[in-house]
Amino acid sequence: MLEGFWYIAGESVAVRAGQPFAAVLCNQPLVLFRDGQGRVHALEDRCPHKGVPLSSARQEGDSLRCSFHGWRFTSSGECVEVPAIGNVAHPSSPSACVKTLPVEEQDGWVWVYMGNDLCPKPTTPPPALPVPPDGSRMVSARQSAEAKVRWDFAVDSLMDPAHVPFVHNKYFRRREAARKKEKVFTRLPLGFRTISQNVLLPDTFIFRALSPGLGSATTTVDFVLPGIHFERWEIGKRFASVMLVATPLTDERSRFDVSVGWNFLRQLPAGWLVRRTLRTILGQDREILELQEQGFGLKGGMLLNLESDTLAVWYRQLKKYRLDQLAGVPNIAHPVPERATLRWMT
Ligand code: FES
Ligand SMILES: [Fe+2]
Repeated sequence: MLEGFWYIAGESVAVRAGQPFAAVLCNQPLVLFRDGQGRVHALEDRCPHKGVPLSSARQEGDSLRCSFHGWRFTSSGECVEVPAIGNVAHPSSPSACVKTLPVEEQDGWVWVYMGNDLCPKPTTPPPALPVPPDGSRMVSARQSAEAKVRWDFAVDSLMDPAHVPFVHNKYFRRREAARKKEKVFTRLPLGFRTISQNVLLPDTFIFRALSPGLGSATTTVDFVLPGIHFERWEIGKRFASVMLVATPLTDERSRFDVSVGWNFLRQLPAGWLVRRTLRTILGQDREILELQEQGFGLKGGMLLNLESDTLAVWYRQLKKYRLDQLAGVPNIAHPVPERATLRWMT
């Protein structure tokens, strides 16, 4: 798990007023709740008295009342009422306080900042879906899928070009239409980017929807820590973008959250179709990754020595780089070359 980043805890619509919502991020159970002003709060999902999850608490105004002995906690985690001592605040604050975590809503997701002593507070806002450069309005759709797979494997799949024609055949690229690609990568502060100009869009229904004439497009693909894939397509004035996030829930479970936005044909009620397509694509990833987990469990180890596996290697090196950065290790070098060309067939 990589601390010091914003992670998606769930969809904003899932956190309803008056109903505490249980989430888990980086092995940490959390309770989210929405207060009277509509603001979401995140607390550790554990009552400090005898440990009952506060996601089973009753929300009273802007506070949570534990379902076991009725201790009441504010959104800042303070215990302000203990019925057994006459509805007064707990005398031994702060040990009776619940830990709170920074929360923001962005693009219809609730993001929680998972820090540690080296990086207790966020220094940037949560990641956001890329928007059109001309400022035009986008419509968007979202989808999520959980998988019984370790987070590393889930993140690998966000930047694994070679699986696309096999696992997602007919969606992004047909296997029979594979051609040799040459991609130039540049470095981002905690990731890497590749821009392809004048690429001919593949003849699959996703790209036909994006551009009926299948013109040439400029695409920008970024990967950034902790595990986010951004993609932008520009075809004349048409713009579409994707943000695909892999989130560590526990050591054995991960979730994919994807947002898609587009600035054309906004009057069409296409959201349900986009969501259905995303559900299928995420289901394809889930199925193959759960199989990978099975096989890997028999005997660890991977062969990551092809050019198409370079991104997975960079990801592992970037994680170490980030941890060294936080630990204040001197003279560490960014693992991604300033400019590198990689070739593969997809
Ligand atoms: S366990 Fe929560 S009040 Fe006792
Ligand atoms: Fe995939």
